[in-house]
Amino acid sequence: MTIIVTGGAGFIGSNFIFYMLKAHLDYRIVCLDKLTYAGNLSTLAPIMGKADFRFVRADICDREAVDGLFAEEKPDIVVNFAAESHVDRSIEDPGIFLQTNILGTQVLMDTCRKYGVKRFHQVSTDEVYGDLPLDRPDMLFTEETPIHTSSPYSASKAGADLLVMAYHRTYGLPATISRCSNNYGPYQFPEKLIPLMIANALNDKPLPVYGEGLNVRDWLYVEDHCRAIDLILRSGKVGEIYNIGGHNEMRNIDIVRLICKELGKPESLITHVTDRKGHDMRYAIDPTKIHTELGWLPEMRFEDGIKKTIRWYLDNRPWWEKIVTGEYQNYYRKMYGGR
Ligand code: NAD
Ligand code: TYD
Repeated sequence: MTIIVTGGAGFIGSNFIFYMLKAHLDYRIVCLDKLTYAGNLSTLAPIMGKADFRFVRADICDREAVDGLFAEEKPDIVVNFAAESHVDRSIEDPGIFLQTNILGTQVLMDTCRKYGVKRFHQVSTDEVYGDLPLDRPDMLFTEETPIHTSSPYSASKAGADLLVMAYHRTYGLPATISRCSNNYGPYQFPEKLIPLMIANALNDKPLPVYGEGLNVRDWLYVEDHCRAIDLILRSGKVGEIYNIGGHNEMRNIDIVRLICKELGKPESLITHVTDRKGHDMRYAIDPTKIHTELGWLPEMRFEDGIKKTIRWYLDNRPWWEKIVTGEYQNYYRKMYGGR
C-alpha cells in the first residue's frame, strides 16, 4: 500500500505520517510538500532515509511534478493536507489561498483520475460551515449544515470541498472528505493560538488575545484527528463527508489563562488587541456520523492533551525557537505591531 501525503511537513500532515507508519507497518508513505513557511523538514528528520518513507519537495499546483511523482509511485491512496491554513494570513493576502487550496486540489484530483488512484481524501475543516451563536449551545455543525464561509481561508477550503464532490459525481472519483475542528498538539506552527501563546509566555512576551477572547473553538488532539482519517480511508464510504470533533468547546481567554497557569506565568501578560476582521464566534462539531458509522471516538482528554502539548514545546525549544526568530519576526511585527 503506497500513500501520497501532501502537506506532510506541516502540523497535522507530519503527525499523520508518524501515526500511519506506526499503525501500519506494511504501508509506504510518500510525502509531497512545497515547504512553504509552514513546512518544516526538521519535523520529518527522524524518518528520513527509512525504507518505508520518501520525501519529495514539490508544489501541488505543479501539474508536471505531480504527474511525474504519480507515474513513479503509482499510489493507492492520496491524502491532501497541503494548504495555506492560517486565517489571519488569508485576510492579508487571499490569492495564494485560492491558488493552493482550490487549484492545487484540482491538479491532485486530475492526476488521481489519470492514474486510477483508489481513494482521494480531502482534509477539510469545520470552518466551511461558518460560525454558530454563543447563546445557542444546542446548535452544532452536522454534515448537512449549509456551507457559509467567513474568511478567504474558509471560502477556499469550501471551494475545494465543492470541487471534490463535483469530481466524485461527474467523474466517479472515489473521494472522501473530513471536516475537523481545531487541532492542537506537537509540531504546530507558532502562529496559531495555542503554540503562539506557549512560545510567547515562555519568552515573557505579551499574549495577544483578539477582542475579549470570548470566541469559542472546539479543540481536538491531533492524534485523534489522524486516527479518524485512517478509519475513513479504511472503512469510510466514497462520496461521503465526515465531521470530526470531540465535544470540547473552550473560550480563547480560558485557554490562554490555562497556559499561563501551567507555565507559572502571570495573567498580566494577557493583552487584548484589535479583533480579527470577520472573526467567527463559535465552532462546534456534531461527530455522531463518524461515531455511529465508523466507531470513532476521541481518546485524549483536553486536560491531558494540553499538558502533553505544553510539555512538548518545553522539551523541543530548538524546533520552535528556530521558527520564531528570522522571517517570523517580520510576520509578527506586521500582524501584531499596530494592534
Ligand atoms: P500547516 O500550515 O501546518 O501545514 C501545511 C503544509 O502544507 C505545510 O507543510 C506546507 O509547506 C504545505 N503546503 C502549502 N502549500 C503547498 C503547496 N502548494 N504544495 C505542497 N505543499 C504545500 O497546516 P495544518 O494545520 O497541518 O493543516 C493541514 C490541513 O488540515 C489543511 O488542509 C487545513 O485546512 C486542515 N485543517 C487544519 C486544522 C487545524 O486546526 N490546524 C483543522 C481542520 C482542518
Ligand atoms: P487560530 O489558531 O488562528 O485558529 P482558527 O482561527 O482557524 O480557529 O485561532 C484560534 C482562535 O484564537 C481564534 O478565535 C482567533 C484567536 N486568536 C487570538 O486571540 N490571538 C492570536 O494571536 C491568534 C493567532 C488567534
